[in-house]
Amino acid sequence: ARVVVLVSGSGTNLQALIDAAAADPQGYGARIVAVGADRPGIEGLARAERAGIDTFVVGLGDHPDRAAWDAALTDAVAEHRPDLVVLAGFMKLTGPTFLSRFGGRTLNTHPALSPAFPGMHGPRDALAYGVKVTGCTLFVVDEGVDTGPIVAQEAVPVRPDDDVESLHERIKTKERAMLVEWVGRLARHGFRVRGRTIELQGSP
Ligand code: GRF
Repeated sequence: ARVVVLVSGSGTNLQALIDAAAADPQGYGARIVAVGADRPGIEGLARAERAGIDTFVVGLGDHPDRAAWDAALTDAVAEHRPDLVVLAGFMKLTGPTFLSRFGGRTLNTHPALSPAFPGMHGPRDALAYGVKVTGCTLFVVDEGVDTGPIVAQEAVPVRPDDDVESLHERIKTKERAMLVEWVGRLARHGFRVRGRTIELQGSP
């Protein structure tokens, strides 16, 4: 399956997908055909360039308003004819134009156990709340913020001496493995969303 990955930062989740696809080009099932970002000059784009993968940037500031940005992002992604879009540390909310085109086949990872701690600061909010267990969630993007139907979750213990950085790093270790496992599986088998359930097509 043709996969476009959208990033906004360091791109360690992206790197895990690049490595998995490169390690088993025939068997992995997902071929990353392009990497997009909402800002230039980030490590995630550099990782794609080093891997010889097409990149593009659609900056919010380059468009008169969010609707125009959403339309431009949709066009830029569509150019690569993806079967699946993966938001891996993409820090913008995709809008109605994007979702009408790629809804139901856009995955996102969130560094918390949804429905807990949605939004930009999952690890920070988990730490502030004092939970003993947090984790990460892979879900199919819907019009809400981190509210879509859940594909997979992994639990991660919070340690007494954790700060946001150490906790987020521990989460990201599990998150990368979860993303690699499920992007490959969903790419190989195909899937459908029915209500809150993800149905794998083909033999699981
Ligand atoms: C990931 O934890 C992702 O879930 C969150 O931000 C982090 C991105 O990390 N939205 P990276 O850019 O993949 O290293």
